[in-house]
Amino acid sequence: MKQELPDLASVEVFGERIAARLRAGDVIALTGNLGAGKTTLARAILLALGHEGEVPSPTFTIIETYDAPPLRLPAVHADFYRLERPEEAAEIGLDDYREGAALIAEWPDKAGGFAQESQCLSICLEFADEGRIAIVEGGEDWLGRMP
Ligand SMILES: Nc1ncnc2c1ncn2[C@@H]1O[C@H](COP(=O)(O)OP(=O)(O)O)[C@@H](O)[C@H]1O
Ligand SMILES: [Mg+2]
Repeated sequence: MKQELPDLASVEVFGERIAARLRAGDVIALTGNLGAGKTTLARAILLALGHEGEVPSPTFTIIETYDAPPLRLPAVHADFYRLERPEEAAEIGLDDYREGAALIAEWPDKAGGFAQESQCLSICLEFADEGRIAIVEGGEDWLGRMP
């Protein structure tokens, strides 16, 4: 599926659509170059899930966690860019963080990738004029969930 994101308002709406369908165990895998809008979409999803206030970029911390409540379900926002080996994701305890939560991951391939999981929604962000285009591909569990 192709989703046009011509401006920041459209990212907010897209984030709301994803958040409304999100379940524990899901992965939202965000790919795209630096500046493509991964963190912006992650923020939109977290705000739509009920987070209030800032959403720091996890560039340096690698993982930021968000509790429920106030969120509708617990969420983990990760940026794996700084991992040198995919095994480091397990070493920092990713599986424990993911327990009962939804994972929103930037640079997922640096952690070995999640597309093999049926609950993974892969979103590739590309530059298009002033805005972006999202190429969306869902695992089996997302079939019928993301019209
Ligand atoms: N759909 C969009 N249309 C216009 N600007 C956008 C869009 N998505 C993101 N941006 C802008 O692009 C810049 C980089 O976004 P960011 O989310 O930090 O990228 P990334 O996390 O992929 O490096 C930000 O200034 C953001 O406001
Ligand atoms: Mg980012």
